[in-house]
Order: sequence, then structure tokens, then C-alpha cells
Amino acid sequence: MELSPHRPTLCPALDAYQPFDPAHLADPYPLWESAQREAPVFYVESAGFWAVTGYREVLQVTHDTDTFTSRDSLNFKPVPAQLRSRLPLGFPQGYPSLINTDPPDHSRLRRAANQAFTPGKVNLRVPEITQIADDLIDTFIARGRVDIVAHFAVPLPVRVISRIIGVEPHAYADFQRWSDDAFLMSNPVLPDADLLRCATSMAELAEYLQARVAERREEPGDDLLSDLLSKEGETLAVEQIISIAAQTLIGGNVTTTDLIGNALLVLLSDPARWDSVVAAPDTIPQVIEEVLRVKSAVRGLFRTTTRATELGGVQIPARATVWVVFAAANHDLSVFPRPGVFDPDRANLNSHLSFGRGAHFCIGAPLARAEAKIALERLAARLPGLALVEQQQLTYPASPISQGVDRLELTWN
Ligand code: HEM
Repeated sequence: MELSPHRPTLCPALDAYQPFDPAHLADPYPLWESAQREAPVFYVESAGFWAVTGYREVLQVTHDTDTFTSRDSLNFKPVPAQLRSRLPLGFPQGYPSLINTDPPDHSRLRRAANQAFTPGKVNLRVPEITQIADDLIDTFIARGRVDIVAHFAVPLPVRVISRIIGVEPHAYADFQRWSDDAFLMSNPVLPDADLLRCATSMAELAEYLQARVAERREEPGDDLLSDLLSKEGETLAVEQIISIAAQTLIGGNVTTTDLIGNALLVLLSDPARWDSVVAAPDTIPQVIEEVLRVKSAVRGLFRTTTRATELGGVQIPARATVWVVFAAANHDLSVFPRPGVFDPDRANLNSHLSFGRGAHFCIGAPLARAEAKIALERLAARLPGLALVEQQQLTYPASPISQGVDRLELTWN
């Protein structure tokens, strides 16, 4: 990542901004809200990228794909020398497919992938997702206390995505590990010490997906790989099929884990909120939208400028890395009055940017919403007396991408 020439904002807090400081990670909103007042677009000296926090500016970036390319959005480091023979084409999720291409190529690939992610396809999975949620609750319901992240919010989406992609149950644990490492690899500040381990996971993932693709070609099943293979040659190359599956793994696990964890934290931190969900589970869809806004599962994602440009009143040079902070835009006072207040009855509930906007709008949004809805419904039905364990220390990963608690201890009577 190259450093860019820039002018200080004249706001000391922004000029000294440390996005991975634990206190900031725990509550980033005061700083982001002051950025929106003082400098909605500013250079983060400590990280070497530009932060875009204003709602209007985030929309400008997501819609201007000519100036703000997604080509480098997964920001990979080069494949380590010892893995080059196993990854001759690079990392599997790095082959140009969805999140790392621009229109018009992206539009063609997205049309081909869309059919595998329609709301109709998601609806067919509802009984399966409900069963997975109930099976997980069975594993801890007798205990009276659980870290709900480790025992529910993490395994639920991994099992769902594994089934959607067409992974055998015995590979779930590997899939979990590959998914976590793939997600880490999309972090441009990945420490070098983690690179070799993550890159080895990517070699294993690529080899696993290649083997499954070969099997599905012989014998198609009811899964994503088979759906995508039906377009092979016509619109999708096999590398793109593997890449879409890998990006689904990255895009669909940690994000959904964080949504479920954030929802429980927001609801249980005021017991009246949880009681009202238990009493009226039909309100869960609105509750989920407001959780997505007030405590977004994705902090931000990346673009690169193709040319020098002006954004939010500042000049950004060509080839600059731009952090599009969706979570900050969701607290923009000019769009959401009293942005820190959890209010599922807001008039513009669905205006949040948690699933992005424009060409790259999250392909998995219907699935994520369904998983979170089922998760809350089953917990409310089976554990209506859920409560937060008092005085627990909440920590968040040092990531510019994800926003979710590392663990969340709950009890019930
Ligand atoms: C709460 C859960 C989720 C959140 C907050 C979320 C967030 C996002 C965001 C913000 C984007 C836009 C990326 C950009 O503009 O660069 C995106 C794209 C994407 N998401 Fe999700 N996502 C979630 C769940 C899922 C699920 C369940 C899947 C898989 C089924 C998924 C797969 C993807 C893929 C493949 C893309 C790239 C789409 C494209 O570039 O055309 N996501 N997601």
C-alpha cells in the first residue's frame, strides 16, 4: 500500500486516528460522527488509507466504479514462494469474479451468480437452517450459561454455507478454518506473521474446491457448485466458479456471525427489548434491520482510485486505497436522526448501507436476513429468559472490515 500525499484535517482526533485501538473498536461512533462534522473524508496516517465516513460520500464511491475500482478490494499480499506451485493462479478468492471486478465484466458474472442466491432459493433452505439452529441450541440448553458466539453464532452460518456450497459434513471444521483465514486475508493490515498460515489454508481450500467441482461435473447435486457449473463455458470459467464459492465462504460467515452476536448484544443490553421480541417475534425482521444500522456487522470495505479525484471536499490522489466505512455512514445524522438510538420503528429503516450499495450490493443479503431471523426466533422461543452475564469484558477484532464481539456470555433461568 503506498502512502499518499495529503493535508491534515486540522482536527487532532482525526489526524491521530488509530482505527485498531481497542477503545475505538469497542465504540467507534463518537469519532466517526465527529469526522462527519469536521471531515467526512480524511487520510488515516497510521494505516495508510483514506476513510470515507459520510453517507453521501459512501454512495458516491459505491456508484462511481470507474474512479473507485474494486479490482484490488481483496488486497492480497503475493503468494509466498513456498506455496506458488500449489497456487499457480493465485489465491482462489482472488481470481476475478464478484467482489473484485468492475462493471461491465462484473455485471455479466453477477447475473450468472444471482440465480444461485435468489430469495426463492433461500426460502427452500428455511427448514434446514431452523434444524441447524435447534441442533446447536440442544448442545448447550442444559448448561444454563454459554458463550453464544462460539457455540451458536459461529457454527450456524458455517454449516449453512457449507451445505449451500455442497461441502460434506466431515469437512465443516476445515471449512471453518479456511473461512476464518480467508477473511483475515482480505484485511490489508494482515500481520506478516499470519500470512503463511492463511496462505496455506487458501491452498487447501483451492484444492478442496477443485476436487468438488470435478465431482459435481460428473454428478450434479442441489448446491451452489452445481448451479454455477450449469453456466460453465457459457458465462463462467471454472476458476470463476471456484472464486465465487470462495468469496461466498468469506462473505457469508464472519458477517453473519457478527450480525447474530450484535443483535443479541443490542437486545439483551436492555432487557425490555428482548422481552418485546419474545412477546412479538413478528417484529424480528425490523429489529434485524435496525441492528444492521446501529451496530453494523461490516465496518467497511476497500476500493482503489483509478485517477486523482475530489471526494467530500478533499483531493485524493490516483492509486490510493479508500476505506468505505459503511458502519459510519449508518450513523450519519443528516440521514438518521438520533443515530445512536436503537429504534426499529424508524421511518427510513431500510436506508442503511450495511449490505453496501450499487453493483456490489451483497448477493447474500436474503440469506443473512433469513439466518439472523431464524436464529433470534429459535432463541426467543426456547430461551425466553436469556440475559447477559454481568461485568463481562467485551472485545472486538482489530479489523477494518468486521465489527462483532469476540465472545458473548449469556445465562438463562
Ligand atoms: C450480515 C451479513 C452480511 C453483511 C453485513 C454483508 C455485507 C456485504 C457488503 C457490505 C457487501 C458489498 C461489498 C462491496 O461493496 O465491496 C457484500 C458483498 C458480498 N457479499 Fe455480503 N454480507 C453479509 C452476508 C453475506 C452472505 C450470507 C453471503 C453469501 C451467501 C455474502 C456474500 C457476498 C458476496 C459474494 C459479495 C460480493 C457481491 C458482488 O461483488 O457482486 N454476504 N456483502
